[in-house]
Amino acid sequence: MKPADRPRLGFIGAGVVGTVLAGAFAGAGYPVAAIHSRNAERQAAAARGARARAVPAAQDVVALADVVFLTVPDDAIVATAAGVRWSRSKAVVHCNGAASLDLLAGPRSQGAAVGAFHPLQSFAAEEQARRNLPGSAITIDASTEALLAELEAMVVALGGRPLALHGDRAVYHLSAVIASNYLVTLLDLAAGLWGELGLSKEEGLRALLPLVRGTVENLDRVGLPAALTGPIARGDIGTIQRHLEVLDRVAPEARTMYKELARRTIPIALAKGRIGAATARRLAGSLGDEQGDDDACG
Ligand SMILES: NC(=O)c1ccc[n+]([C@@H]2O[C@H](COP(=O)([O-])OP(=O)(O)OC[C@H]3O[C@@H](n4cnc5c(N)ncnc54)[C@H](OP(=O)(O)O)[C@@H]3O)[C@@H](O)[C@H]2O)c1
Repeated sequence: MKPADRPRLGFIGAGVVGTVLAGAFAGAGYPVAAIHSRNAERQAAAARGARARAVPAAQDVVALADVVFLTVPDDAIVATAAGVRWSRSKAVVHCNGAASLDLLAGPRSQGAAVGAFHPLQSFAAEEQARRNLPGSAITIDASTEALLAELEAMVVALGGRPLALHGDRAVYHLSAVIASNYLVTLLDLAAGLWGELGLSKEEGLRALLPLVRGTVENLDRVGLPAALTGPIARGDIGTIQRHLEVLDRVAPEARTMYKELARRTIPIALAKGRIGAATARRLAGSLGDEQGDDDACG
């Protein structure tokens, strides 16, 4: 599609995703016509970054744009869509990873084409998100073939990888949350343990990050199950037992989670071929096979 054929884009909600996407689209040659957000400062900053007009009402975005992105929190999408009038000449897109197009039943009933555009990426801070976006998978869906083709072209223009999903989007989002958000939770726990060594969580995190990057790199290069290393992969039952003893002392609340993760690691080690069935059984035994075992351990 030549730049002249590109649709005018609009954004309602200048949070981190709205601001980054608007700027990225502008950088990729899309005309970003208008941005509305309730917070004047954020609205102005997003508009500046996308060379767009900051407009006082959400309805103004619909008037000025062909494709309107509703980059508001998930729980505000339906109400935001209901707060403006739509028509057949407009398309409206949400960025909620877990929800289907049903979320936009309101605009659709008024004739608008509706779509979903979900970057499979973590937008924690704007500058970093801008850097992370190229190369990311972006899942798209649309009520019309024309909008789907439009969204696919947009993903490509951002340097992303278009991904059309079939099935329950909540499953896809569950996978993303486990891989991204709960990695943060695990690092919070892991780095916090460094307090026991007289070091701060920040120092712990700095020391752990090269290990995490190396692991992610291994996953990229050699995949699953080959990327697995450590005591379960080696069948070092004594080391696992020491961990459980230490957990009781320093983080008893994490014992159940540790054991569940360790149990789930055994089949990966088996698949890698580093341990055999007998070692797997002994490992499982040392972790307590019985349901409710952890409750009993308190
Ligand atoms: N963050 C991520 O990593 C990520 C990744 C992929 C997709 N997404 C999706 O992108 C969408 C936007 O997420 P985000 O992280 O950019 O959210 P966010 O940073 O919280 O920004 C959303 C913005 O929407 C505006 N807004 C409008 N109505 C609102 C209301 N009723 N309550 C609160 N804010 C309201 C707020 O700006 P004003 O106060 O100025 O109106 C707010 O800054 C969501 O659908 C999310 O699932 C997020």
